[in-house]
Amino acid sequence: MSTKKKRPKNYVVQDQYFFEAKRLWYRARSAFKLLEIEEKHAIVRPGMKVLDLASAPGSFLQVLSKKVGPEGFVVGVDIQKIEPLGYANVKTFQESVFEHERISECFESLGISEFDLITSDIAPSTTGMTGVDQYRSIELNLAILEIADKFLKRGGNLVLKVFVWEDVDELVSPIKTRFAKLQRMKPKACRDRSFEEYFICLGKK
Ligand SMILES: C[S@@+](CC[C@H](N)C(=O)[O-])C[C@H]1O[C@@H](n2cnc3c(N)ncnc32)[C@H](O)[C@@H]1O
Repeated sequence: MSTKKKRPKNYVVQDQYFFEAKRLWYRARSAFKLLEIEEKHAIVRPGMKVLDLASAPGSFLQVLSKKVGPEGFVVGVDIQKIEPLGYANVKTFQESVFEHERISECFESLGISEFDLITSDIAPSTTGMTGVDQYRSIELNLAILEIADKFLKRGGNLVLKVFVWEDVDELVSPIKTRFAKLQRMKPKACRDRSFEEYFICLGKK
């Protein structure tokens, strides 16, 4: 019998990003991933309307709220409850990315018909079976592409998080038909052993 101790499912890696997130009052280390994406691609500007999908607990929202400023607006959606942030330029909804009708109604209630930028940090509940986890991640991202079809403005950018184990052509080809450019990156704040990558989809056609 193996004597190796198993990590509990909700184990949190306490590395430099974990402590830095605590120090800066970010709700999650993910904030640093978005900050690095922003540093490289400069996709967020003051006054933008941004949709952040899979926002809980809310660190992307914290970064986006500050970047778009008082003239901008950020809408957060997650299947889990997002505890209120108390920012005037952020509104959140508890919905799944598969519920397109309900999501449309949320935007209608705000009088928003399109966004300048969509970000997503979506993660399926993982099984540890890499093929299954990649498949689930692709399904979620295909649902997000459909949301972008409807609600991302022409020329707008989309950030996706994808679990990549083997090739992900089922996702790459629909991205390439919809966007002028696809750039892939793995921010330093991603854990070494994680399979996640961020797909920066630039210039919706
Ligand atoms: C890594 S967390 C996001 C962290 C977030 N970006 C932040 O900065 O705090 C991944 C999120 O994906 C959400 N998620 C998973 N499946 C979803 C679905 N079908 N619809 C909406 N959100 C989903 C989870 O609830 C979880 O909050």
